[in-house]
Amino acid sequence: METPYRFELFGERHKPLRASFSCGEGALDQYLKTRARKEMDHRIAVVYVLYDESEGRIAGYYTLSSLSVELPEHMRKGLAKYPAYPATLIGRLAVDQSYQGQGLGKRILLDALGRALAGSRTVASYAVITDAKNEQARDFYSRYGFAPLSTACGGNQLFLPMGTVERLFAKR
Ligand SMILES: CC(C)(COP(=O)(O)OP(=O)(O)OC[C@H]1O[C@@H](n2cnc3c(N)ncnc32)[C@H](O)[C@@H]1OP(=O)(O)O)[C@@H](O)C(=O)NCCC(=O)NCCS
Repeated sequence: METPYRFELFGERHKPLRASFSCGEGALDQYLKTRARKEMDHRIAVVYVLYDESEGRIAGYYTLSSLSVELPEHMRKGLAKYPAYPATLIGRLAVDQSYQGQGLGKRILLDALGRALAGSRTVASYAVITDAKNEQARDFYSRYGFAPLSTACGGNQLFLPMGTVERLFAKR
């Protein structure tokens, strides 16, 4: 059976759909409603939505940006010395409450990792970074191998080496 879900760049046709998006984290709902479009226009983030064609709804979304990160010494072994290293940020990732628990969060994360990996072949990126907003998010990401980058910020900044992402996709 053909899946009704499709990843799309957040665009004009999704604007009327964002008002009903509700993932349980007000800040992530608000971002989609008020900031996503502007951040795309300003080239701060690229926003992808998982569009449910059968319902005409946004089932989930995520954002990708570039950033540079300082790596703790034990992670720099064998690397050229730089004050900071290039990375890819999953800035936000959310699934609407009525779609949660059906594997869509995993699907969205894999899409984000796939695009991060593809992008890193054109513009180098050493790792994928995300800021876990809460315990639930930390648990979710740690299932896929993300680990705290440091103990700073309460260990909320999580890290997955791009080499690990590459191996993950090589196995699939
Ligand atoms: C976290 C979130 C993205 C998960 O989405 P989802 O569609 O419910 O997740 P899935 O159904 O794809 O589950 C994927 C895996 O994560 C696990 N999981 C889902 N929610 C979880 C939670 N709250 N805590 C721990 N693990 C969780 C599932 O058991 C599943 O594991 P499995 O592959 O071993 O079976 C979703 O609950 C959400 O949007 N929450 C609010 C916003 C948020 O916290 N975003 C996090 C980024 S800041």
